[in-house]
Amino acid sequence: MGIPFFPGEMGAWTSDMLIAQITDIHLGFEPDNPAEFNRKRLDRVLRTFEEMERRPDLIIASGDLVDRGDVDSYRRLRIALDGCQIPVFPCLGNHDARASFRRIFPDFEMPDGFLQYGLDAGPLRILVLDTLEEGRHGGGYCPARARWLKERIADEPERPTVLVLHHPPVETGIGWMTSLPDEHWIVRLRDALSGAHNIVGMLCGHIHRQMTTIWEGRVLTVCASSAPQVALDLSTIDADRPDNRAMIVADPPAFALHLWTGDRLVSHFDVAEDHVTLARYDVRMQPLVATLMAEGRGD
Ligand SMILES: [Fe+2]
Repeated sequence: MGIPFFPGEMGAWTSDMLIAQITDIHLGFEPDNPAEFNRKRLDRVLRTFEEMERRPDLIIASGDLVDRGDVDSYRRLRIALDGCQIPVFPCLGNHDARASFRRIFPDFEMPDGFLQYGLDAGPLRILVLDTLEEGRHGGGYCPARARWLKERIADEPERPTVLVLHHPPVETGIGWMTSLPDEHWIVRLRDALSGAHNIVGMLCGHIHRQMTTIWEGRVLTVCASSAPQVALDLSTIDADRPDNRAMIVADPPAFALHLWTGDRLVSHFDVAEDHVTLARYDVRMQPLVATLMAEGRGD
């Protein structure tokens, strides 16, 4: 299986590695404005990654790369990513469209027409899944995709494997942004993964909010969007009766950092903005740092 990558160069893998995640970019929400709000938010997150003292080894973009699935928006995306020094690996979401994606990103293999691929990331294997069902907001997973996944699991049943998929196959408590456990695609995904004991994390998007849960015994995290977020409201919603609740909020653009420590994935979440710094690592903080680290060593 070929390994697509775009556009930065991959460094030499070490036993630990750092995976950055950005999701729900929704470029092209303002079709006539290339300098749109969502582009600025994407740029802010990419700049944050590039300015980190420890740079991520790679970036996963977990779907809803564009808002309307049109070729022009993917062209915008390609331009936005072109200067990025860190390799970016895309995944498709419900706002994406495979044919348009393929026009602008022909370097990605699409077995059976789906954007599913394995990434050989040193100590880890990352499997990017395609849960897009064109014409539907919710997820999809057909027999062809499930067969591909089963084969990949069988290829390396012991190697620590991270799954990336746009749609989290779980109930969220947010009534208009949720899945039901017995939806066909979820049953198929569950079957494809039955018996797999090497899944160390499932990284999702779609909800536009940060979330963590367990699915089929596996840790599943949802990264909040770089585009505006879904408001946190877990009260019942009536599909026939608008109640003027907040639905979309423009908190700062979000991202996740998933650190593989050699035996587990540790997920951190943050927003790309200037934080208010209350303490720095200076001579006043040094005794505390030294004490904590000595305790950690068992001194
Ligand atoms: Fe989205």
